[in-house]
Amino acid sequence: MLNIEYKNIIIHMRTIQNIRFVQILDSRGFPTIQCEINNGLYKACSPSGASTGSREAIEIRDENKTFMGKSVLIAFRNQDIINEIFIGKSLEGGLEKFKELDNLILKMDSTPQKSILGGNLTTALSFCLLKAVSDNNVYQLFNNHNLLPWAWGGKGGTAVQSKNGVFETQGIKNSKSFLAVLPRPLVNIINGGKHAGNKLQIQEFMIVPKEYTDVYDMLNNITTVFHNLKKIISKKYGSSQTAVGDEGGYAPDIESPEEALDLLVDAIETSGLKPGEDMFIALDCAASEYYKDGKYEIFENKWLSKEETIDYLKALCEKYPIISIEDPFDENDFESWKLFYQEMNDKIMIVGDDLFTTSPEYCKKNEEEKWANSLLVKVNQIGTVSEALDAIGWIRKNGGKIILSHRSGETNDDIITDIGYGIGAEFLKIGAPCRGERIAKYNRLIEIYIQRLSIGS
Ligand code: PGA
Ligand code: ZN
Repeated sequence: MLNIEYKNIIIHMRTIQNIRFVQILDSRGFPTIQCEINNGLYKACSPSGASTGSREAIEIRDENKTFMGKSVLIAFRNQDIINEIFIGKSLEGGLEKFKELDNLILKMDSTPQKSILGGNLTTALSFCLLKAVSDNNVYQLFNNHNLLPWAWGGKGGTAVQSKNGVFETQGIKNSKSFLAVLPRPLVNIINGGKHAGNKLQIQEFMIVPKEYTDVYDMLNNITTVFHNLKKIISKKYGSSQTAVGDEGGYAPDIESPEEALDLLVDAIETSGLKPGEDMFIALDCAASEYYKDGKYEIFENKWLSKEETIDYLKALCEKYPIISIEDPFDENDFESWKLFYQEMNDKIMIVGDDLFTTSPEYCKKNEEEKWANSLLVKVNQIGTVSEALDAIGWIRKNGGKIILSHRSGETNDDIITDIGYGIGAEFLKIGAPCRGERIAKYNRLIEIYIQRLSIGS
């Protein structure tokens, strides 16, 4: 705290006094980085993925015998320099101040994959700076600042919030008024791929609630489906099949995507809800994980050509109430992305995760290339919140939808709920309503909802 005397009034200025990095454990029991500012008054953690994109910011790890080669102490080697740069800097000034501080990280490491500082360290630092500037209320910081221009359609635009929750974008292409949304969770209740030990190649089978105004109604619906799914799996395959995967969804030993989708429809109906009206379905194929030599192994040991894969996914969309498919193709199979976009753009959300790796550069390219119409935002793929907001701006500029996402390796840090809610993201991908690190994000959704009700914004 810096005390400044101005016309006989003492003004308290919050400043950065110290920054410390601590090695903690993530939800898989591997080390990750926690950043602490001002003796731990502000804390933030970096998550860690398993099905990572090749263009992602890299994690710096020790690669020695401790923690199976995954300890992160080497990433702390720049702690002193970071302290020298940041100590004494003011935390007052809202989002503009945050951007200024975040830019200092980019000055230290301007490599595309954060190979100097490590994306695991820059993410924890960037998140923590956001918490420090907002005095631990990231949602309010966004809310008070009428959203960030750069997260609403690229540079030069502004977004103005009026009292009744209507936003208006100004000065950018496609300026429009729109109602502030409550982000709908994409709820991953059947896990496959790298997040589970079963034979499902497609990584995530998710349910998606319809738009809602009451957070408890929505949570009642998704948790009811989740619990009914457990009963159905137990009855059909035995209770040993109800163990959960990395993101909290069940991971029964099934192989075919249709079998998983039938289970979801059954659980939705058993819960008294209508598939395609009350509850929808989304997939994350994470297809880079089963792509080789121009073919996709959607079923174990059965390889489909690009055309067959496109046809197969289209057929799934006809048969089931699927509203979104993430990473349907390999991150470099741009040809299939384009073809699929041409046929499905007006029907479903085509979401780029490994495709974009939250990179403003790739999201900008998408404007011309038209690979996808929605962005999965994982801040640790790019390494700073500011760059993630730039990426969001490029997708929004063209009317695309935004999903704030967790990683399969998580901590109890709930900052992504704040960012998602704060920037008016349409969706949040925070796993199943199960496992502490996922529940932390759901419970933050409740807290913000209540805070919002009480202040009427
Ligand atoms: P990851 O998976 O965190 O293991 O990369 C999540 C996803 O692919 O969306
Ligand atoms: Zn994904």
